[in-house]
Amino acid sequence: MLGGLVAGIEAGDDDEGDEDAIVPAQGPSVKRQTICFDESFPSAAPNFQLLVDAGPGCGGITWPAAEVLTAYLANILALNPSWLEGKRIVELGAGTGAVSMALARMMKKRGSRTTIYSTDQAILLDLMDANTVLNDVGDTVNVRELSWGETIASEMQTPDIILAADCVYFEPAFPLLMKTLRLLATPTSEILFCYKKRRKADKRFFVMLRKVFTVTAVVEDFVCHRDFRREAIFLYRLSLRSR
Ligand SMILES: C[S@@+](CC[C@H](N)C(=O)[O-])C[C@H]1O[C@@H](n2cnc3c(N)ncnc32)[C@H](O)[C@@H]1O
Repeated sequence: MLGGLVAGIEAGDDDEGDEDAIVPAQGPSVKRQTICFDESFPSAAPNFQLLVDAGPGCGGITWPAAEVLTAYLANILALNPSWLEGKRIVELGAGTGAVSMALARMMKKRGSRTTIYSTDQAILLDLMDANTVLNDVGDTVNVRELSWGETIASEMQTPDIILAADCVYFEPAFPLLMKTLRLLATPTSEILFCYKKRRKADKRFFVMLRKVFTVTAVVEDFVCHRDFRREAIFLYRLSLRSR
């Protein structure tokens, strides 16, 4: 169901030559729809639901990179069920909160304890709050404002895990996202960064990123219902370079 929805929204998205485009093309018709996932959203089923609404901007819908990142998390958890036990996780640019919500449901299903901060700009927080209620994960997911480049509240500092899906698309925000990654990351942070390639300009972000982080592509096969490599979606692990 989501695949069709996103495909419609992404039409005309391949805008390498369109440097004026600020955000990926939006589906203006998507207004407060609840989408229900079956087995299509890895391991968060059954009854995983998301409220989507393009009104607040591109974060109001869920993007394929979020599905890929969630699939990868589900696969690691299947191999290593205690991986996230007791960990503090910060998701950047979470939009609807899809990754955080799905992860919280996976943890709940396992009876594991974890703390997730699902963050974005203020305009997305109501939607994320609604999704937290819809999925009954308020005991695990904390919805917080975190605008890239700004001060980070102490509760979110030095997280064990940092997650980001489809956060590289607007060049003026590149240094801000970099600043936030630098502020959050510690030498022991695990950072999973799922990227959808759209524009040549994205290279400038990766030049900045590689100065601070070692960027390793996740090459292992994992169960994912999307053929993400064909969709130009890449999953990276980042680790702070030693100075
Ligand atoms: C393409 S959407 C991806 C949303 C979600 N991660 C997903 O994959 O479905 C990009 C997200 O980055 C967020 N974002 C953009 N600029 C931001 C900024 N300066 N500070 C915080 N979040 C920002 C947007 O609000 C949006 O939710």
